[in-house]
Amino acid sequence: MDIKSIGIVGAGQMGNGIAHVSALAGYDVMLTDVRQEALDAAVDLITTNMDRQVAREKITQSERDHAMDRIQTTSTLIDLGKSDLIIEAATEREDIKHAIFAELLPALKPETILTSNTSSISITRLASRTDRPERFMGFHFMNPVPIMQLVELIRGIATNEDTYQACRGVVDRLNKTSATAEDFPAFIVNRILMPMINEAVYTLYEGVGTVTSIDTSMKLGANHPMGPLELADFIGLDTCLAIMNVLHDGLADTKYRPCPLLTKYVEAGWLGRKAQRGFYDYRGETPVPTR
Ligand SMILES: NC(=O)c1ccc[n+]([C@@H]2O[C@H](COP(=O)([O-])OP(=O)(O)OC[C@H]3O[C@@H](n4cnc5c(N)ncnc54)[C@H](O)[C@@H]3O)[C@@H](O)[C@H]2O)c1
Repeated sequence: MDIKSIGIVGAGQMGNGIAHVSALAGYDVMLTDVRQEALDAAVDLITTNMDRQVAREKITQSERDHAMDRIQTTSTLIDLGKSDLIIEAATEREDIKHAIFAELLPALKPETILTSNTSSISITRLASRTDRPERFMGFHFMNPVPIMQLVELIRGIATNEDTYQACRGVVDRLNKTSATAEDFPAFIVNRILMPMINEAVYTLYEGVGTVTSIDTSMKLGANHPMGPLELADFIGLDTCLAIMNVLHDGLADTKYRPCPLLTKYVEAGWLGRKAQRGFYDYRGETPVPTR
């Protein structure tokens, strides 16, 4: 199937990045959100980010102008009906995603491919509630989308080969690299990354190291660009905890038990960078470890 247009549901952190890279790759983009302010903020952010790419000579002014012209926004979900590919990137709640698909399905062309950017919800379960489980996939971008190279493609149990190949073609055209994952909790990246972050929190909890010594150890001893606690703050500690719970519940193995200290930080509302406090305090000039 020749995909020319992409409908994106949700204009938050991920949705705006997906719109950005899709428009630059030449796709017509229709972006929707339930909040008009999210749509306005997304267009502002995409403009700022593309202007920065022009200033750094990553793209030309004309590429930027054409890409911006390809992005349309709407507060009406069914306006995405004519899109060849839908990428759902709304809030990580299963009831919200089911409701979006239920409203959107009657407006879609029969051949439209439906995908979700979910980090943790079962693709097979989401697909089973639609009229097209064979044309349903996980299309999992990494944050921040314009910078991160990987897209995980997750096949549900019913996903057919044409759908998979069409989505692979889109990833290629976005100039990104795909890795294929089967539909098991947290897929590949988070299945490996989150237990490492959780273990770093246990290392802190048990007093084996301080925030600084743990992050320094992994940066200089394992050549990681960011320490695990710094990375956890960047991702959001609530998100890290939610993914650990998905692993723990879905695989029923105690090795995925979320560290009580991670839970404590989330209970305190110390969710990382977005809350200005997590394993580091970001309210001053430079981040200060909180333990
Ligand atoms: N943040 C990450 O690092 C990351 C990485 C990979 C995947 N994801 C996944 O991407 C999805 C979005 O995450 P995010 O970080 O962009 O969240 P976010 O909170 O920044 O954005 C979600 C957006 O969805 C909108 N929304 C809620 N209900 C809606 C509806 N019914 N119709 C349309 N829009 C609706 C919200 O108004 C909000 O603007 C989630 O499924 C998440 O698991 C997130």
